[in-house]
Amino acid sequence: MRVLVTGASGQLADAVLRAFADCDVIAHPRATLDVTDSDAVGRAVDQAAPALIINCAAFTRVDDAESRPADAFAVNAFAVRTLARAAERRGAALVHYGSDFVFAGLDGPEAEPYDESAAPSPRSVYAASKLVGDWFALDYPRAYVLRVESLFGLPAEWNGRRGSLETIVAGLEAGREVPVFTDRVVSPSYVVDVAAATRHLVDAQAAAGLYHCVNSGRGTWYQVAGEVARLLGMAARLKPITTAETRLAAARPTFSALSNRKLAAAGFEMPAWQDALQRWLAARGSAPRAEAGTAI
Ligand SMILES: NC(=O)c1ccc[n+]([C@@H]2O[C@H](COP(=O)([O-])OP(=O)(O)OC[C@H]3O[C@@H](n4cnc5c(N)ncnc54)[C@H](OP(=O)(O)O)[C@@H]3O)[C@@H](O)[C@H]2O)c1
Repeated sequence: MRVLVTGASGQLADAVLRAFADCDVIAHPRATLDVTDSDAVGRAVDQAAPALIINCAAFTRVDDAESRPADAFAVNAFAVRTLARAAERRGAALVHYGSDFVFAGLDGPEAEPYDESAAPSPRSVYAASKLVGDWFALDYPRAYVLRVESLFGLPAEWNGRRGSLETIVAGLEAGREVPVFTDRVVSPSYVVDVAAATRHLVDAQAAAGLYHCVNSGRGTWYQVAGEVARLLGMAARLKPITTAETRLAAARPTFSALSNRKLAAAGFEMPAWQDALQRWLAARGSAPRAEAGTAI
């Protein structure tokens, strides 16, 4: 199967490229394909003639998006429409990734995880741009949109921008006090598991459409960071903070747990986030010293 991957030097793309390594993959980082250039996208898709396009390109600087809405919408929304049109013209399937930030997420910690029928209510420019991207992709009947959140999975030697979990691990390993939210409930997502779920949906020729795709379960960032420290066998020097105390430009949902039920019904069970954390820490060389989920 010929597969064209956009945004190929990103965090999730790295895992996607591994999951599709046995395919004929044409990987385009931003340097070789700017997805906001519709002519270039058309040419690249015609040249590759892929059976599948996987869009990993995104404007992911959530706070910067507040002052750069046109850039965020160009990449996260209108480029998705361009890719969907190109896929349709070539008869290719399309995979696109959405975000939990499309939900207002103002519910309390006991709320039910959002499923695919939950009404979105974005509270930031990034969130709105991602929602429009979902809609443009879903207009195409052969598109899979996987909504993910709080991605992690970077190798220890990564020099670029880090996600929340990488920042927590780096802080703990350096012996620093790490500030973590006590009022944000998340379902962290290991890029390796998201990429495996993507591969499953494509191989199983599952029904196209929207799928929530996160590691199973939920926890506050404080609980997630505590589990990381426990797995590393380190004393957790965690500083509890709340979203109200921080001066981030973009609003964050305080409750972002997503339900994987639809994905499970399509034949793919996402492992628990604790299990995913343990596998990631082992893969990055931070040998875990405790079993996931067991008390110290
Ligand atoms: N990270 C998370 O916690 C998270 C949470 C929810 C949803 N998501 C979604 O998951 C997907 C993957 O995220 P990620 O964490 O892998 O993001 P990432 O590491 O920031 O990767 C995104 C890639 O897109 C590239 N890109 C940006 N603008 C582009 C353009 N105009 N043309 C082509 N490529 C462009 C970036 O290149 P440069 O590095 O050169 O900018 C980067 O390599 C995205 O759709 C994101 O919205 C992520």
